[in-house]
Amino acid sequence: MSASLQQASNPSATEMAAAPVLELRNVTRKFGARPDLAERIAIGLKLARPRSVVHAVDGVDLKVKVGEVLGLVGESGCGKSTLGRIAAGILPPSSGSVLWKGQDRASMTQRQRHAADLDIQMIFQNPMAALNPRMTISEIVAEAPRAHRLIDGPEEPYVDRYLKMSGFDPAMKRRFSHQFSGGQRQRVNIARALAVQPEFLVCDESVAALDVSIQAQVINLFMDLRETLGLTYLFVSHDLGVVEHISDRVAIMYLGRIVEEAGAEDIFARSNHPYTQALLSEIPRIETTKRRFSPVKGELPSPLSPPSGCHFHPRCPHATKRCREEAPLLREIAPGHRSACHLNG
Ligand SMILES: Nc1ncnc2c1ncn2[C@@H]1O[C@H](COP(=O)(O)OP(=O)(O)O)[C@@H](O)[C@H]1O
Ligand code: SF4
Ligand SMILES: [Mg+2]
Repeated sequence: MSASLQQASNPSATEMAAAPVLELRNVTRKFGARPDLAERIAIGLKLARPRSVVHAVDGVDLKVKVGEVLGLVGESGCGKSTLGRIAAGILPPSSGSVLWKGQDRASMTQRQRHAADLDIQMIFQNPMAALNPRMTISEIVAEAPRAHRLIDGPEEPYVDRYLKMSGFDPAMKRRFSHQFSGGQRQRVNIARALAVQPEFLVCDESVAALDVSIQAQVINLFMDLRETLGLTYLFVSHDLGVVEHISDRVAIMYLGRIVEEAGAEDIFARSNHPYTQALLSEIPRIETTKRRFSPVKGELPSPLSPPSGCHFHPRCPHATKRCREEAPLLREIAPGHRSACHLNG
């Protein structure tokens, strides 16, 4: 078949490139607040009622296109990890849909779900907790691809390839994880995730536990891997400075909701939402290698009883009566730029 005929018979190729590889539609996740022992006894004796529910994620719509890096930013407790776990298929949403390559996870066969689970890998903050201390680096990297029969040929060069790709010297692969620094361990963790040949990485605070100089190296590694392997990322961080250089688009989250979403340049140069603007206020620094942002003023309200209307109103310098009563919708304010604030009309 000629190339042009092949293209004509496969019109979905161009559509696929533009279509989101991952899409969240009106995703919500509620948790029953965790009662402590005294509360459990009181509830058991009917002396107290279970506490209310946490809306960790509240009606989120997000799309991530093939090859794109979407940064997800917000203060601790706003629901980033919950959203990341839902995106990775580790945690089911309470309601709403998660689509991988256009297919709703809820309607996937077991086989399709299994394939999607391998396609999307998660890299966590604490590489030590993720690595089995009784296994060598080599065993750690080989374990999952061996179990899923992905190694076509001898195991050693397979493991070496992924270690090398992650910037870890394969000569050290017979050692144990505790013999290495945090940065080296995170490289092993990355090699382990890559070894199952994923297409999408959910990085949840993946550099937060590392020294600032090592953070930059690991971020550069993620950027290189994006080029060489064509990976797509959901890059979760509480630190705007971390997502600034790696993200194509940035979504800002506040108490379970996305409050602003735009191209990275727009977020940093033309932010619209007062919360984003508060996150962007910088700590003056002499060195200019990495921007540092100061914490947002005012306390983050409890997600157990979020403020009425716009959740941000108690901390917002522009809040009005309407803000206390009515939740603003996330609306497009410019092409590709969405914001949820009554100041936009
Ligand atoms: N398994 C769980 N059970 C109960 N509450 C949870 C659970 N996981 C997260 N939460 C709550 O959901 C909210 C969002 O948490 P999380 O997604 O970890 O936020 P972030 O990653 O932004 O810090 C928090 O209030 C947290 O206490
Ligand atoms: S809706 Fe009101 S309270 Fe919320 S961010 Fe906009 S101005 Fe501030
Ligand atoms: Mg988290």
